This record gives sequence, structure tokens and C-alpha cells, in this order.
Amino acid sequence: MDRELFERAAAVRRHAHAPYSRFQVGAAVRTAAGTVHVGANVENASYPEGWCAETSALAAMVAAAPPGPGRQITAVCVVADRVGGRLTTPCGGCRQRIAEFSRPETPVYVAEPSGESRTFLMKELLPAAFALEETR
Ligand code: THU
Repeated sequence: MDRELFERAAAVRRHAHAPYSRFQVGAAVRTAAGTVHVGANVENASYPEGWCAETSALAAMVAAAPPGPGRQITAVCVVADRVGGRLTTPCGGCRQRIAEFSRPETPVYVAEPSGESRTFLMKELLPAAFALEETR
């Protein structure tokens, strides 16, 4: 578990705009350039036309840095309440989005606000991932 990444994700979670689901999520990504970018989920009246915390963090990363180390994700942390006793893992769409900027061995820390966490690797969350080789 990356403590700083957890703290950043837990802090931005409190900025979530989630009046419809009332399920607040915070995400933080660390890059090969040493930078950290954060995001929260953003909902709207046309629920479920909102987007996830992970997607917000990826957008912040892309906005902040041109192609290069600043867009190579070395770790991800997602913070949300447990659902049915289980820690919250990224949704299917977000797994593909994270895969775009990470490696199969990239750790994804999923945590609840108390800090209790579990670590997955991207290859566990998205095995046999779709990739267009020519874009890599
Ligand atoms: N959500 C995230 O932001 N990330 C996840 O990993 C799971 C789900 C959001 C989407 C929606 O705003 C709310 O949580 C309920 O699904």
C-alpha cells in the first residue's frame, strides 16, 4: 500500500459529486515522473450518465502532462466504502482506461476510508486485456 496515494485518494473522495448514488469514490494515480493526480466521481441528474473517480484522475493526468513518463501509471489507489462487505474495485470500463496507461504488473490498491486495503495487479483485474499493439 502506498500511504501517500491513499491519503490523496481519501481526501479527494470527500469532493465527490454523488448526490444520486450517495456513493463517494476517490482515486489517485502515481506516475513514472513522480507526480500524483487525483479525481472523484461526478454524477448528474441523468444518472447514470456520470463518471467514475478513476476516470477523473486519468483525465487530470492527461491534462497535466504530455505523452511520456508523466502519463505512465506506476500505482493506483481507489478509496470507497465497502459494498456487501467487499472493498470497491474499479468498474470494467475504468479497468480498460487504467490499462491504457499502465502495465500488467501495476498495483491497484483498493481501500476503505479507514485505510484497510487489498492490493491487486492490473493483470488480475483485467486478464487477457484488449490492446491495439500499434498504438503502444
Ligand atoms: N464509482 C466510481 O467512481 N468508481 C468505482 O470504482 C466504482 C463506482 C462511482 C460511479 C457512481 O458515481 C457511483 O460510484 C455508484 O456506482
